[in-house]
Amino acid sequence: MKNPPAAETFRPRPRFQLLYKKFWKILLGLSVLILTNCSPVPDTISGIVQDENGPVQGAVVRVQASNIFTKTDALGEFAITGLPQDVSVKLTAWASGYYITGGEKEYPPGTTEVKLQLLRHTETDHRGYEWVSAFSSLGDPGNCQNCHAQPGDPNSALPFDEWMLDAHSRSLKNERFLTMYAGTDIYGNQSPPTRMGTSKDYGSFPLPPDLSMPYYGPGYKLDFPQSAGNCSACHAPMEAVSAPYSIDPTAVGPGAEGIS
Ligand code: HEC
Ligand code: HEC
Repeated sequence: MKNPPAAETFRPRPRFQLLYKKFWKILLGLSVLILTNCSPVPDTISGIVQDENGPVQGAVVRVQASNIFTKTDALGEFAITGLPQDVSVKLTAWASGYYITGGEKEYPPGTTEVKLQLLRHTETDHRGYEWVSAFSSLGDPGNCQNCHAQPGDPNSALPFDEWMLDAHSRSLKNERFLTMYAGTDIYGNQSPPTRMGTSKDYGSFPLPPDLSMPYYGPGYKLDFPQSAGNCSACHAPMEAVSAPYSIDPTAVGPGAEGIS
């Protein structure tokens, strides 16, 4: 137990001293109120999101890599509130059809008139773009294998290694595809060329195979022996990028790249 204060040190405070203290408190409160109304709210960052034509409505403005976000209004303006004071944050902005922007500058809460500029991404292929091979052996620093493979572990979960095991990378080695293209079985036996009939309504049309002859299944080359077809445009895009209608997928060689 504590000793009660000695009788001579325990004196109730005079009334006017209490009032005096209260007065300062009220004055301080009032000046804070006045200050906050005149200067930026210290837990808020506000600004505008624009593209080349002006304000963008409905853009998501986010404190980078966090769940704190808001959307711009009809004037492209935003205000992110409730931020911890004295902690500067990076902002990003994005809207459908645009690249993500921002993430570079840090803004202390209280900042106003932040400008975030959106860049629209293209909606068509860029003719100037070049295909980049997946394989690092081609010596281009952009080759995906340089960064997305685990050397020495072909079963790693990295994207290049996964891709090497999946049907996309193997689209040019796929026996079902190759045999269907060539009209062969997997041993290379080829069916005879497709027999054609004619009708006055439909012109030339394929007839069923003559099963008295050896037959190893249907194939594009049996129907169209003079054409390489457009199969490579999808099944071997790297090989066919400059000639989508004339690359024979059985003639591209063992190192050719599948769908990367
Ligand atoms: C110089 C190194 C480098 C090269 C070359 C590279 N990447 Fe990447 N890539 C990265 C890094 C780093 C990331 C981000 C990884 C992360 O954030 O987890 C990434 C991310 C990706 C992602 C997103 C993965 C995900 O899970 O979100 C894809 C898809 C991708 N790369 C594909 C490719 C393709 C296709 C190529 C080849 C044309 C390629 N990359 C070449 C370094 C590279
Ligand atoms: C427009 C793109 C495109 C073109 C052109 C194309 N293919 Fe395909 N092909 C695909 C896609 C995509 C698949 C996979 C479909 C799926 O798995 O559902 C596929 C699957 C196949 C398969 C099945 C492979 C399997 O393992 O099951 C065969 C066979 C095939 N294609 C043959 C051909 C032949 C022969 C040609 C040319 C006459 C051709 N394709 C042209 C896109 C194309």
